[in-house]
Amino acid sequence: MRLKLRNIFLVYFVVSSAGLLYALLQLGQQCDCTHQMNPINDVRRRKAPHHRGVENMPVIYVVTPTHTRPHQRAELTRLSQTLLLVPALHWILVEDAAERTTLVADLLAKSELQYTHLHMLTPPPMKLKDSDPNWLKPRGVEQRNEALRWLRENRSAKDQGVVYFADDDNTYSINIFKEMRNTQKVSVWPVGLVGGLRYEGPLVTGGKVVGFHTAWKTHRPFPIDMAGFAVSLQLLLSHPKAQFDLTAERGFLESSLLAPLVAVEELEPKADNCTKIWVWHTRTEKPKLKQEDLLEKQGKGSDPKILV
Ligand SMILES: *[C@@H]1O[C@H](CO)[C@@H](O)[C@H](O)[C@H]1NC(C)=O
Ligand SMILES: *[C@@H]1O[C@H](CO)[C@@H](O)[C@H](O)[C@H]1NC(C)=O
Repeated sequence: MRLKLRNIFLVYFVVSSAGLLYALLQLGQQCDCTHQMNPINDVRRRKAPHHRGVENMPVIYVVTPTHTRPHQRAELTRLSQTLLLVPALHWILVEDAAERTTLVADLLAKSELQYTHLHMLTPPPMKLKDSDPNWLKPRGVEQRNEALRWLRENRSAKDQGVVYFADDDNTYSINIFKEMRNTQKVSVWPVGLVGGLRYEGPLVTGGKVVGFHTAWKTHRPFPIDMAGFAVSLQLLLSHPKAQFDLTAERGFLESSLLAPLVAVEELEPKADNCTKIWVWHTRTEKPKLKQEDLLEKQGKGSDPKILV
């Protein structure tokens, strides 16, 4: 009996020592625990941040016309990094240029966004001169139409999506992208700091758009800023001729696209029945580079190899 008890103790002692030794060995070893690492590290390895349910979401096609200027890289950096926060997004960037520039191509390649890089030169007679006030001629028209052309060639009835025209100088909350995601035909919301008002936007009663809060050219069929609506991809594909009219009177560009697509009563009000501002028509002050010109004349200008 005593012998048996001693044996049991012995076995117990050996087994627990072995367990302890094994545990100590494991502690000393580098574990293969990538799955437990900080999610930030994980994100970098992917093409874009992971978002739940991305596969089943309609894709938001963000169409951005852009042109070369001293602050272009700053604007595109700001916008691209906002877009990184939005799942299932495809950025269609269209340069007003005779060909794609390296500056924009490099920025896109490093952006980790899904994108298409297009270009379309505005015909010289239509182009805004440096000395012209910026309202003289519509801007970005040919570029937005080029994006529409690309969508019609490369997307089909089976693709679920929504198209949003996002200029590179506005400010966007990620909320506005959540709002537009499930657009059936055309969704609308107010835009801050536009039209000489704190905001411009649809007036909503009983969940329907019944008019517009605007102070300028109130007779416009759709007095909505470019940043204040999104169109379903299906609707655009089923109206192959719908596009922006280059000859439209000032303020009528948005109407020229929307009028053939939708009636005011059919507009889908978003952003809590158009009571929330989640996009702002901000404008960047034109950078003053007078000193640069002076130094350049003395051969002492800023290093051209440093990209600004
Ligand atoms: C899109 O269409 C163009 C023709 O406009 C074609 O050259 C290109 O390969 C297509 N791209 C994709 C991604 O399907
Ligand atoms: C918008 O208004 C309608 C009608 O008053 C209401 O049924 C609906 O819940 C509102 N939607 C939101 C998001 O507040």
